[in-house]
Amino acid sequence: MTRTVVIVAVASAAVACAATAYLVSMRIRNRKYWNRSLAILQEFQSECTTSLFRLRQVVDAMTVEMHAGLASEGGSKLKMLLTYVDNLPTGDEEGLYYALDLGGTNFRVLRVQLGGPEGRVLRQEYEEVSIPSHLMVGSNEDLFDYIALELSRFVESEGENYHPKPGRDRELGFTFSFPVKQTSINSGYLIKWTKGFAIPDGVGKDVVQALHDAMKRRGLAMRVTALVNDTVGALAGARYWNEDVMVAVILGTGTNACYVERAEAITKYHGESPRSGSMVINMEWGNFWSSHLPRTIYDEDLDAESLNPGEQGFEKMVSGMYLGDIVRRVLLKMAEDSFLFGTEVPANLYKPNILRTPDISKMHQDESADLREVAKVLKSILGVSSTPLKVRMLVVELCDLVAERGARLAAAGIVGILKKIGRDGSCLSNRSKCDQGEGRHTTIAMDGGLYEHYPKFRKYLQETVAHLLGEEIAANVSVELSKDGSGIGAALLAASHSQYVNT
Ligand code: GLC
Repeated sequence: MTRTVVIVAVASAAVACAATAYLVSMRIRNRKYWNRSLAILQEFQSECTTSLFRLRQVVDAMTVEMHAGLASEGGSKLKMLLTYVDNLPTGDEEGLYYALDLGGTNFRVLRVQLGGPEGRVLRQEYEEVSIPSHLMVGSNEDLFDYIALELSRFVESEGENYHPKPGRDRELGFTFSFPVKQTSINSGYLIKWTKGFAIPDGVGKDVVQALHDAMKRRGLAMRVTALVNDTVGALAGARYWNEDVMVAVILGTGTNACYVERAEAITKYHGESPRSGSMVINMEWGNFWSSHLPRTIYDEDLDAESLNPGEQGFEKMVSGMYLGDIVRRVLLKMAEDSFLFGTEVPANLYKPNILRTPDISKMHQDESADLREVAKVLKSILGVSSTPLKVRMLVVELCDLVAERGARLAAAGIVGILKKIGRDGSCLSNRSKCDQGEGRHTTIAMDGGLYEHYPKFRKYLQETVAHLLGEEIAANVSVELSKDGSGIGAALLAASHSQYVNT
């Protein structure tokens, strides 16, 4: 027998032992790698923490920077641009007004018939037009010719129930969401193109002049009476319905805020006194910076590899254009250092911006027991076909950290503005500081896809504003979605700044 049998038995026992040893060692290694992934997550979590203590530092820094930016040109990274909007719509506006909203690869043209305090918005119509990509990198004249062509087509389609005033040119509000240095309510020159536009001969030119010239070439008799940023349009659009609106915030691809400031507080304002004693300030808060911002190595890398390194630091931690890519960068680190997705790093994880904010919103909001949506996104975007549940849970946790940080920082920014205008309750301990609005209700108008389509982000933001303000003050402050106000807001501003108002 027995010799052969003994040899076979010994050999199989040895194989079994070796297999068991291999499995045990794999398990230990897997556990080791898994723990490494958890350690990366924990490290990220502790670096991007937004305790109330830290947020209060951000609130104070925002207020200090606002003062500095208002005091002098270049006094702060916050540009605090004068908008010359000193006459917000009240509801009394009447007549036909147009708006043009240009802020990305599409633009919108809109007309509205206003019926005064009784009729309000009697009717409105709009069209959306996409800009052919060659015009985004062509010449200024070609771009504005195209816009004027589409605008004149839209004006030609004006129906009989719109009533232009006889003998007057039609008036238009122009929402132009690029950095512009304004010189009056209806003039301003482009500081630089962003969002994929690169038209060298446009920089430094008056954008209203460029539009007027193009309209003239088309034979279109129309006057641009207000040039506004999208935040300013949103403020005007919301204020038309609710006079408690003092602040507007855009949380979309980019982020920005504007608010109503007292004229005396704007020391760099050298023009005639604003008509109403106040003026809207376009903060360009995307460029806000403070050492109190919880910045991680992933944010630093994202910034260094971006089209505008060193700029828009706040925007890169808060807005929709970047949240997805921060998540991607942390996942890449986990995949490289601890084989989160297996022995091979998924090739797509190396591609900047492949994971977009709507994707992380979808994963973050996945309520299914087996996190089915997370699995779907990981498969469709990263090509990872089977992931254990614990990996999916970790991905959700990571999305939560990134969205929570962005939302809480935006909330701190909002409270910083409220503090600046004396509506955060801090003046109650020193009543001489309560210059305006103490005890009055304040509404913050919100617009943008990130805020609108990401409920968990929205919830974090609202909760944090309330925590920072405290129960008593928070009862007097509301944060309200004011959808697509920026287009109609520009038309309303064309009305409230109409060139025919005094004639
Ligand atoms: C970017 C632009 C700013 C705009 C914001 C929201 O930050 O610089 O002007 O308001 O995006 O669209």
